[in-house]
Amino acid sequence: MMNDFFTQEDFAEAADFIRHHTRYTPDVALILGSGLSSLAEAVTNPDVIPYEEIPHFPIPHVEGHAGRLVIGELEGWKVVVMQGRAHYYEGYSMQHLTLPVRVMHMLGAKTLVVTNAAGGLNPQFQVGDLMLITDHINLIGMAGLNPLRGPNDPALGPRFPDMSQAYDPVLRTLALRVAEKLELPLREGVYVCLAGPSFETPAEIRFLRVIGADAVGMSTVPEVIVARYSGMRVLGISGISNMAITEPVEGKQATHVEVLEAGRVLVPRLISLLRGVLRELDAV
Ligand code: HPA
Repeated sequence: MMNDFFTQEDFAEAADFIRHHTRYTPDVALILGSGLSSLAEAVTNPDVIPYEEIPHFPIPHVEGHAGRLVIGELEGWKVVVMQGRAHYYEGYSMQHLTLPVRVMHMLGAKTLVVTNAAGGLNPQFQVGDLMLITDHINLIGMAGLNPLRGPNDPALGPRFPDMSQAYDPVLRTLALRVAEKLELPLREGVYVCLAGPSFETPAEIRFLRVIGADAVGMSTVPEVIVARYSGMRVLGISGISNMAITEPVEGKQATHVEVLEAGRVLVPRLISLLRGVLRELDAV
């Protein structure tokens, strides 16, 4: 099943299952990245569905990804929150790991808020910073791994979707305004997606800087492509969990532990920002 293409019937089967297990029709979808799972605790009166129970859902097996769908209320909105996500490096196909986005769209979500933990490439960034994603570089996609590869059903989206404004300019302006009001520093930058799971070599980091990336990670871009294809508007936020290593230094290395630890600093900031954005979302 891992590399099969999925059809509208598969998406509908998953969506129907979820509909039968929740009281809510969500307006907003949220994907929580590595170490950010506890953000789902902000959701009130939740219906919780483990991914294992949902037909076709990819199940994350890495630490820091709970693997549950939390559907409830947040700042007056009905939200569907992915508490953890599956990654390409776990062995899932691009089509499979983006299936939840298609399903959340089918459930009624028109806005996708996507988060991740990312390595900081921009030398002005620090661990614990939030970065508003202004654009992305789909480095693995450029080499062929696009989640839209395969037969296209025109009822679901266009064969050649535009990506010139993948990250909604209105939502970005709103996020910046909210951050300013909260006196919460919010960086802006370009996110580059690699396959992982190995972290980058110093030479690769220098290359990623040269091509214009500010943060690097192993997720998000496939989901954003499918969301835009489906007609959803997207807000993307990276939490800088570690600074990329540009020169080999004895005793210095990137680890998943530091990524998860940074989550503890990032979560309260991200919660304030997302709550603020949701409070003002109907004004945009
Ligand atoms: N590189 C790639 N992915 C990541 C990193 C990193 O340094 N930090 C968190 N996700």
